[in-house]
Amino acid sequence: MSISPLQLAVFASGSGSNLEAILLAIEAGSLPHVTVAAVISNKKDARALKRAQSRNIPTAVLSPNDYARESDYLEALEAILNEHEINFIALAGYLKKIPLPLVKKYAGRMLNIHPSLLPAFGGPGMYGSKIHTAAITRGVRWTGVTVHLVDEEYDTGPILLQKTVPVHQSDTPETLAQRVLAVEHHIYPEALRLFAEGRVTVENRKVFIDPNIPKGISH
Ligand code: GRF
Repeated sequence: MSISPLQLAVFASGSGSNLEAILLAIEAGSLPHVTVAAVISNKKDARALKRAQSRNIPTAVLSPNDYARESDYLEALEAILNEHEINFIALAGYLKKIPLPLVKKYAGRMLNIHPSLLPAFGGPGMYGSKIHTAAITRGVRWTGVTVHLVDEEYDTGPILLQKTVPVHQSDTPETLAQRVLAVEHHIYPEALRLFAEGRVTVENRKVFIDPNIPKGISH
């Protein structure tokens, strides 16, 4: 087990509150081995971009829709990742599928956060308030947050962390989303910390977290 500094790219399509939580954790000194080196969005008006720009973090906007061939889109993405020497990717509300060659290249080094207890309420088409509407409609008592590694399919990769969130009878998708999001903001920085501390291994789709904290790190 040894420190493994993350040169991170965050992919975000929307508000970027998870990006903000990661940046605040870095600024507070609780992620000493994580640098957000680039923020990538498919939407030029994504608030996530503004959050990055206000801190002089490089940003890039590119959408698969702007490329005739997926290979061109892939090439453009790879150019940005190479330019910033990215060794780890965090998807944070990114609504486009990552090209397969990139998923393979960053296997075990690409995370996603999903606002439910996967495998419940995940998969293609399950994003945003649809997830919380489905949880409320199904009548579950608990939902939550999942941080998982990214594999070839939507929301199916090995699970790193999960945290439960209660569903109240009076909940609307909006009130539930808010409660879940507050938990997301703790769990995503925590997931990155585990990787940066070199404490994560994956075997046969199971994720193992070393309980020992490397020497010289205080929490
Ligand atoms: C979060 O709920 C995240 O779990 C999901 O997309 C949302 C992104 O929110 N993948 P934000 O842009 O980080 O505020």
